[in-house]
Amino acid sequence: MQILAFGASNSRNSINKALARFTATLVPNADIEVLDLNDFDLPIFSEDIEKEIGQPKAAKEFFEKIGSADGLIVSFAEHNGSYSAAYKNLFDWASRIDQKVFQGKPTIYLATSPGPGGAGSVLASAKGSAQFFGVDLKAAVSVANFYDVFDAETGRITEPNALVDLSSAAKALALQDVPVLGTQPSKPYQIMQGA
Ligand SMILES: Cc1cc2nc3c(=O)[nH]c(=O)nc-3n(C[C@H](O)[C@H](O)[C@H](O)COP(=O)(O)O)c2cc1C
Repeated sequence: MQILAFGASNSRNSINKALARFTATLVPNADIEVLDLNDFDLPIFSEDIEKEIGQPKAAKEFFEKIGSADGLIVSFAEHNGSYSAAYKNLFDWASRIDQKVFQGKPTIYLATSPGPGGAGSVLASAKGSAQFFGVDLKAAVSVANFYDVFDAETGRITEPNALVDLSSAAKALALQDVPVLGTQPSKPYQIMQGA
């Protein structure tokens, strides 16, 4: 199973990228590609610029990366309660190729922050709009107090409860339509840890 994972952030040391990468390692039998949003250089979206340049190559590349994956892991950075500007900009450009940016791919949504809120606001926002963007959402996990639960040397989440939640989400992604934790096959289950 080809898993595409990324942090929805352009921070070079993104904790969300680290969380997405680690969670991808929990997906059984996965080939993992981790994207860095810095590799998708785009102007700030405007309809005027769009009229001038059309669909930029970077937006097409992002869209095609999603299209070639079997499953997605997206971990959202929270900036002032919402998406990072870098992710929102890339997403807006990609949505002009097709509003179903996530192309029906099985997806898990994650979010983390250094504080106790665990980026729960941006995660709630992403979950609330997932249906409009072709997201087949299998699970959503917020991880609070990132630096307390992550071992930077090994790149692993060490806190047992978070680890259980992330492992369940990873398995849900791999199993796809097999019921997980008693939920119906087509219904994503949700775990909100520390949100
Ligand atoms: C402009 C800005 C706004 C932020 N707003 C929030 C916020 O609303 N909630 C929160 O939990 N953390 C907030 N933070 C802290 C981020 O959670 C923290 O920088 C985190 O490392 C971002 O994720 P990343 O490392 O994946 O980019 C903010 C950080 C910045 C730079």
